[in-house]
Amino acid sequence: MEVQLRQAQKLEAVGQLAAGIAHEINTPTQFVNDNTQFLSEAFGDYNRLLTQYQDLLQMAEDGVINKEQIDKVKSVTEEIDLQYLREEVPQAVEQSQEGLGRITKIVRAMKEFSHPGTKEKIPVNINHAIEVTIDVCRNEWKYHAEMKTDFTPDLPLVPCLPDEINQVFLNLIVNAAHAIADAIGNSGKKGVIQITTRLDGDWAEIIISDTGCGIPEKIQKRIFEPFFTTKEVGKGTGQGLTMVYSTVVDKHGGSIEVESEPGVGSTFNIRLPLQQDVDK
Ligand SMILES: Nc1ncnc2c1ncn2[C@@H]1O[C@H](COP(=O)(O)OP(=O)(O)OP(=O)(O)O)[C@@H](O)[C@H]1O
Ligand SMILES: [Mg+2]
Repeated sequence: MEVQLRQAQKLEAVGQLAAGIAHEINTPTQFVNDNTQFLSEAFGDYNRLLTQYQDLLQMAEDGVINKEQIDKVKSVTEEIDLQYLREEVPQAVEQSQEGLGRITKIVRAMKEFSHPGTKEKIPVNINHAIEVTIDVCRNEWKYHAEMKTDFTPDLPLVPCLPDEINQVFLNLIVNAAHAIADAIGNSGKKGVIQITTRLDGDWAEIIISDTGCGIPEKIQKRIFEPFFTTKEVGKGTGQGLTMVYSTVVDKHGGSIEVESEPGVGSTFNIRLPLQQDVDK
């Protein structure tokens, strides 16, 4: 039952992300397309001008340059607006490279995020895992929130089940984004999601805070219960934090604490042990 639930949760998360990822890939793809179309036309223009210069060179070799050919070179130069091409072509190339870079980044992040999973814990770079998760779900938060990160560079590798720990970060980030969307409504403002990592003795600490709607005290105790949700049907199933809790606490011997104030925001504090007990 537990395994099935986790699998269903994972599939649901991937399904929800798919549309956002398609959008993230589509936008740069579109401008790479436009740019290559422009470059193809520009190449045609350059070719026309080059042909005139070749004719001119031929005449120079023959020692009979005529004014007519010089005028032709000048008029084609004007027609194709060489000055404009000289400015725009390098920009089109640069933008295309940037777009392809963005596509490569998101595809790589997807690949890493959907790590096939291991039965045994393996050493995981938590900062990197969070970064990858932020990229994969960018479309879920970017309209409502600014993402701020403060990662300690001296966090050692943490023994983890990588695919499950990625799901933990995903659930917490998506929850934060939803809470912010809820808080800002149609005001057009943006909230902040802040993710911090710290080394605290034998523990890795991950703090995810948001400036969202907050959690009323009377439901704070219930948020980790299976199927507890305050979201409308179709938006939440109430399994996110259940999965987060069982992964962090039961499977990794860690802890999770929440502090929240309605109208101000919420902070989830996760601690993962750097050393795993043999029986965990
Ligand atoms: N960052 C947060 N800010 C405010 N409320 C939160 C936050 N995270 C969780 N909650 C509350 O806890 C409830 C349970 O969260 P959980 O992630 O388990 O389920 P869900 O987000 O409702 O649905 P699912 O994650 O299954 O799509 C949420 O419905 C919401 O009321
Ligand atoms: Mg959730």
